Amino acid sequence: MIPREIIDEIVYRSDIEQVIGSYVTLKRAGSNCNGRCPFHSEKTPSFTVFPATRSFYCFGCGAGGDVITFTMRIENLDYIEAVKLLAARAGISIPEDRNDIKENNGVSRKRVQEMNLCAARFFRDCLKDQKYGAEGLRYLTEKRELSMATINHFGLGFAPDNFWALSNHMTSLGFTEDELVAAFLCGKSKKSGKLFDMYRNRVIFPIIDTTGNVIGFGGRVMDNSEPKYLNTNDTPAFKKRQNLFALNFAKKYAEERLILCEGYMDVIALHAAGFENAVATLGTAITPDQARIMAKYTKQVVICYDSDKAGLAADDKAIRLLSEVGIEARVLKVTGAKDPDEYIKKYGADNFRRLLGDTKGSFDYKLEKLITGRDISLPDEKIKISNDVCFMIADVNSSVERDIYVRRASELLGTTAEAMRSDVERIRKKKLRDFKNRQSSEAQMSLKNIGDRVNVDAAKNIRANSTEEGILGLMLMYEEFRSKAADGFEGLCADDFVTEFGRRVFEAMLELERSECGFSKAMLGQSFTPDEMGRIEKIELSRRNLAKNDTEVFSNFISGLKKEKSSNDDDNDPFAELMRLRAAVQKNKENKNI
Ligand code: CTP
Ligand code: MN
Repeated sequence: MIPREIIDEIVYRSDIEQVIGSYVTLKRAGSNCNGRCPFHSEKTPSFTVFPATRSFYCFGCGAGGDVITFTMRIENLDYIEAVKLLAARAGISIPEDRNDIKENNGVSRKRVQEMNLCAARFFRDCLKDQKYGAEGLRYLTEKRELSMATINHFGLGFAPDNFWALSNHMTSLGFTEDELVAAFLCGKSKKSGKLFDMYRNRVIFPIIDTTGNVIGFGGRVMDNSEPKYLNTNDTPAFKKRQNLFALNFAKKYAEERLILCEGYMDVIALHAAGFENAVATLGTAITPDQARIMAKYTKQVVICYDSDKAGLAADDKAIRLLSEVGIEARVLKVTGAKDPDEYIKKYGADNFRRLLGDTKGSFDYKLEKLITGRDISLPDEKIKISNDVCFMIADVNSSVERDIYVRRASELLGTTAEAMRSDVERIRKKKLRDFKNRQSSEAQMSLKNIGDRVNVDAAKNIRANSTEEGILGLMLMYEEFRSKAADGFEGLCADDFVTEFGRRVFEAMLELERSECGFSKAMLGQSFTPDEMGRIEKIELSRRNLAKNDTEVFSNFISGLKKEKSSNDDDNDPFAELMRLRAAVQKNKENKNI
């Protein structure tokens, strides 16, 4: 098996729009692209590429999946061959043996947290130690202008410039070498087999979860060397895509809003200046899981990314993911400084508070972005911009909001609101029509499902199948439900599944979820055929389009499935059948007696 990191990287680094675009003529439609399906013959395009989820799906024939599935199908390759082709294309090398993959040797999450706590104390003590930590303390207090109160509040620390400081300390506390490696606190030298410290000569930012456990660390160099930050890899206690820095503090101040920044230092500077509702992602762009976590604590998030190009590009993704979970996303751009940390240092907390009172709603932000750098005085350009803007407004469901946006945009572009409004409504009608057509062609396909080759049990278990798809869809979309399922949430287990296909998908997901490397959808491709991957894609897609995807829904599906299963089992049980008949006769009698 090819390790998960590599598969993920291939999926991540292969631009799916570009890869598919080299075989199929794609046309952009909003955030997705459409084209004529290369896997069945059709006149109207029902083949859709979703760049945001790095997937594709054909509403006509049900082909779907990720860039690997696409390559398998179109080039007629098996999984490994497709992965190799894409890796070569993206310039990624695949290791031949698996020796370099870290095993966590069954070290538990609790044990890792214990180690982290001891390590955090050690780093903290080192920072205060004249001999080891003077340089680190100077860096934090002088260069970064942090007060001792802030340093203590965040539990900041220092990893000495030494290969064995932490290793020796931790082994003296009784932690084994394997445990320390699994916690990403130490590495093991390939040559000598000797343990060494991962973090050396870096200031240390402990990452603490909302219940107060130390789950990982970020360590920053004090000069310009690389890598600037060293972060804990995913361990049994830490998933960087499912945690937010400083949420342990910010959750108490989150009611009105959260401020989302890019870096540790931004968050620390903001908290120190009195904005204790600031959080940051952990060295990755925002993930759907992180958006959902924020939605637990707040209704509004102010995105406060760096003012450089990368920050600008990241805004759109953040707006989309936050809006998808029902959060009002607003954007704050600092000017005259590269990030919030620098801004506060230069201009002070009061000025930042002013910016906070003057943030842009996501629509205005996107509108402005569409217009900036283009010349509206050129008629051609103006028509193009206006068309783009209309497409954007047509996606808004509330007619009141659409009306407000039309007024604002037409004013900005110097067109009449009436003209723009009728354009928007025309586009909107067309979008709705396309959607309906698509749905009905999908419905026809599923009527034909009597001949469903992917899930042969679906036709005779329609209700159970749709319940199963609900459960699997939620699990495909959110880690939260995968880990719930892995923990046997409400007794859910593989035996509850009625269809063989549903059961297989469930089991495969759990196996990955519980494995050392964790779940990744792309890994499913190793156990399922492209046809089956298409179905899996569809299961996720149908859930993604629904507004309500919370624990209550999940829980209802589970109890629904358990009911289906028991009635299904009864069907095959002559004794149960007899009991049911008897009960019916009894009831009939009672009714007559009344
Ligand atoms: N990051 C990382 N690895 C890197 C660079 C950045 O993990 N090599 C992550 C860190 O979580 C960091 C965030 O991306 O906090 C933002 O990066 P950057 O703006 O470069 O760092 P700052 O936190 O702003 O730190 P500083 O002000 O010290 O430059
Ligand atoms: Mn920064």
